Amino acid sequence: MIHKKIEELRRLLNYHNHKYYVENDPEISDREFDRMMRELQDLEEAHPEFADPNSPTARVGSDITSEFRSVEHRFPMLSLGNTYSLDELHEFIHRIEKEVDAPEFVCELKFDGTAISLTYRNGELIQAATRGDGARGDDVTTNVRTIRTIPLRLQGDDYPDLFEIRGEIFMPYASFDRLNMERAENGEPLLANPRNAAAGTLKQQSSAVVAQRGLDCTLYQLAGENLPFKTHWESLQKARSWGFKISEHARNCRTLEEIDQFIAYWDESRKQLPFATDGVVIKVNDFTEQRILGFTAKAPKWAVAYKFKAEQALTRLESIDFQVGRTGAITPVANLDPVLLAGTTVKRATLHNAEQIALLDIRVGDMVYVEKGGEIIPKITGVDLSARSAESQPLQYITHCPVCDTPLVRYEGESKHYCPNQSHCRPQILGRIIHYTSRKAMNIEGLGDETVELLFENGLVRNIADLYDLRADQLARLPRLGERSAENIVRNIRQSAEVPFARVLFALGIRFVGETTAKYLASHFRTLDAVMQASREELVEAEEVGEKIAEAILDYFADEENRQIIERLRKAGIRTEADAKVLQSESLAGKSFVISGKFTAHSRDELKEMIESHGGKNLSAVSANVDFLVAGDKVGPAKLQKATKLGIRLISEEELISMIAQADSSDNRITISPTPHPVSGKAEEKTPINETAEQGSLF
Ligand code: IVH
Repeated sequence: MIHKKIEELRRLLNYHNHKYYVENDPEISDREFDRMMRELQDLEEAHPEFADPNSPTARVGSDITSEFRSVEHRFPMLSLGNTYSLDELHEFIHRIEKEVDAPEFVCELKFDGTAISLTYRNGELIQAATRGDGARGDDVTTNVRTIRTIPLRLQGDDYPDLFEIRGEIFMPYASFDRLNMERAENGEPLLANPRNAAAGTLKQQSSAVVAQRGLDCTLYQLAGENLPFKTHWESLQKARSWGFKISEHARNCRTLEEIDQFIAYWDESRKQLPFATDGVVIKVNDFTEQRILGFTAKAPKWAVAYKFKAEQALTRLESIDFQVGRTGAITPVANLDPVLLAGTTVKRATLHNAEQIALLDIRVGDMVYVEKGGEIIPKITGVDLSARSAESQPLQYITHCPVCDTPLVRYEGESKHYCPNQSHCRPQILGRIIHYTSRKAMNIEGLGDETVELLFENGLVRNIADLYDLRADQLARLPRLGERSAENIVRNIRQSAEVPFARVLFALGIRFVGETTAKYLASHFRTLDAVMQASREELVEAEEVGEKIAEAILDYFADEENRQIIERLRKAGIRTEADAKVLQSESLAGKSFVISGKFTAHSRDELKEMIESHGGKNLSAVSANVDFLVAGDKVGPAKLQKATKLGIRLISEEELISMIAQADSSDNRITISPTPHPVSGKAEEKTPINETAEQGSLF
């Protein structure tokens, strides 16, 4: 009885969910829907024996954190060839017309989100996987179940027993704006665009958060063995009848003119769509013809993406602000007459530097073209000269710091101007402290921009080392900070002594040393002393470090004030050494290696890590003590010569890896696992996409 009731409620909720979210044609009120959902939740809670992962209650998500298992795609997820040129598109069509007779095409929108592959068995969603590297992706099923437009159970009875359907998960502009508004209110960094927001949301640990974010999904490709369809179009219509959201905007086109018209129409009309699109996908409709055309290594030869040029808006440049960053870099920022661009209102745009302004001859009062790149802040890409008034004057770039009036300087090879007054220019002092406390650096909670400003105004901190001298009673006396938060802040500052060395290096705020470079430096030099003592030549030996970064590091440590700050940080217990390495095995114990040349699958530092973590030793010079020279492309000729003379064995990257693997499996201790990437900490997936005969019969 109860089971029947549960099943009935599930059926009804699935039906009304589809009516509401996919068809946009609800039959019952939201209240009635919510009431049924609650009734079902209560029944399921009381009767866990009838649990079902595809119950409509899964839409709400949960806080249980899930690991994203890596799963193999039954059929590789390929990408598409793409072009921005209509001529190239026409050539592509002509090539197809040479191979198959009078092909019919399906033109679709190219949705700008993140690709997903859904697997259904007997009408039930059993897996949702991201594209990953095309061969393997991440299992994100729990999160995907919360997306209301994705059916958990299919309608009708003519779907294949087992099939995959692929499409795009995206975040509509309305959800994106809401999310960024919330993030702004919470002082969290904004997301650059709906595509990043969709991809990031899909990887959230809590599916309850995903459920709140308003993701959507459109499906555009069926994959399976022996699918009973002749054409792509037919398969899409069928998929729609099973409950999937299939775009209404796809069209059959027979001629180049029809394809061009479709593109021209959407290049303009996409501005009215409530979600982001970045082009049009043109596919051969007939599956037999698709098979004849086949695949290249990466993409089908029967489909191509025509990409739209980035959306532009034209608006007036009202004024220019000059911002001073924590490193003293000056960034000109344009204040614009607010204008709608790609779904959001734009009020400010970056102008990069003086050269850029001069190059485009940008002047206050001009009508300027604004475009969105990958970043949050849009950029100005041109000026409408015809709209310029006769009185307009070229812009005079500032010569002095807008805050402290110090004359600005230019460093060689740098396009930005800098204020060199590091110790006394307010935004630089504040910026350095704020950077030090920020989440990706020392992650000191409770010390946001405003509190740091407050501490500075009250003379309590002038530099990052001062933080460690703060006492709770000093903080508690400040406005807006009670005793409790004062104590919390002091505790959090102390706890920052736990932060790993790589992040400490990043937190120091050395010019050009970002998160990644800091990780490379930490893994290469291992201790702060080693970084401080390194010469220019030694610095550039570390991955990612070139002359410019080396110079900035030398400058930083040459500064007496910085050295004093570092001594105080050391006394405060901040970590100045990388963690001791955990040995994965001793398969290379007693063996010494020199690495030289360029490698394909791993970086030099990764190979060194690998050697050390399996008990081997890295040496920098070839000598009689060396057992192996691991030689990559363009191996140093002197090293090679010396190694040959000394009779040292030359091995390739692959040989090194198989040496580790063989030794490991022969002594049965540890089997080789992909070595963690020094930067991401994640095992790297390097599985190539197989180009198998199977692919021809995929779709
Ligand atoms: S078809 C074998 N159709 O674009 C080709 N892809 O640049 C399967 N995309 O990875 C893809 N809209 O994530 C196809 N209507 C559409 C699409 C679409 C967006 C994405 C998809 C793909 C990427 C290729």
